[in-house]
Amino acid sequence: MREHGGPEVLELQDLERPSYEADELLIRVAAAGLNPVDTQVRSGDWVPDEMGEPPMVLGWDVAGMVEEAGDSTSGFAPGDRVFGMPRFPGLARADAEYVAAPASQIAPTPDSLSDEQAGALPLAGLTAWQALVDTAAVGEGDRVLIQAAAGGVGHLAVQIARARGAHMVGTASAAKHDFLRELGVDEPVDYSAGPVQEAVSEVDVVIDTVSEDDAGLLASLDTLREDGRLVVIAGDLTDPVKDAAARQGKRATEMLVHPDQAGLMALAALAEKRRLRVVIEESFPLERAAEAHERLESGRVSGKLLLTV
Ligand SMILES: NC(=O)c1ccc[n+]([C@@H]2O[C@H](COP(=O)([O-])OP(=O)(O)OC[C@H]3O[C@@H](n4cnc5c(N)ncnc54)[C@H](OP(=O)(O)O)[C@@H]3O)[C@@H](O)[C@H]2O)c1
Repeated sequence: MREHGGPEVLELQDLERPSYEADELLIRVAAAGLNPVDTQVRSGDWVPDEMGEPPMVLGWDVAGMVEEAGDSTSGFAPGDRVFGMPRFPGLARADAEYVAAPASQIAPTPDSLSDEQAGALPLAGLTAWQALVDTAAVGEGDRVLIQAAAGGVGHLAVQIARARGAHMVGTASAAKHDFLRELGVDEPVDYSAGPVQEAVSEVDVVIDTVSEDDAGLLASLDTLREDGRLVVIAGDLTDPVKDAAARQGKRATEMLVHPDQAGLMALAALAEKRRLRVVIEESFPLERAAEAHERLESGRVSGKLLLTV
């Protein structure tokens, strides 16, 4: 894209292949997942520091094949299938034929995942993993609420928490409750039927991937038992929400996903054990990226959207 704006600013352009450092891999991209952050950067709602001169290439999720491996990398060879979410929140420039990525932020793609599934997994999967495991330490018997359980992050979070032995509660519109049950949600909750805190209480952990204002986060806080943990994914953890959490004896944490090879390998291991399924609502060839952005911005996607190269 040459400027920020609506989906129409996205164009297909021929650029030089990216150069790569000694500790990096040059990856031939097969599939690149789409995430709300792509639409936020495209529209100018969030402009990364290193945006640089146009044209700018969006995209963080990548799956494909190692084309060349830098001299100081180890464990990777040309032809290996790999996936990852390099450099975030720095630019990865993944919506392209080739991506240069630090080898330390990339992992082998497991046999159980196609390139398409692996391309849709990294950013949403790492967000879910880092929220549930690294931040909230979800374990056996925890009662966990996922707000927006049908979305990109949510549908993976449900399965990860379920695999750790949690009892799952998840919000979505009623039409998606069968989908939630298939993912492993024990108690689907229709968020349009009334305030969530009237339908859900005494949970140990809430992962909130939808609330962008204090009212939504305070409602999530209300569903927690004393000493419960709220992880804020979509909005900002403001002082009023922090104060309310402290008054109620609950913990609230804001989280930003980061590149994480160990996390990728944990996701791959779950996929190998058939405990994690990546649901792709639709794949779009790179030249139809604008259409994919429009669909994502509807806010109604189940699972993930993908760009294929
Ligand atoms: N902090 C981080 O590091 C980080 C990382 C990744 C994503 N995020 C943020 O997390 C948010 C979610 O990302 P995503 O990729 O999961 O988005 P997404 O896939 O676009 O989410 C779409 C889903 O949200 C559901 N939804 C919409 N409004 C809802 C509501 N009020 N209650 C319950 N469900 C609702 C929709 O279900 P219905 O059709 O049933 O409404 C739909 O299935 C975004 O704001 C994104 O920017 C943050």
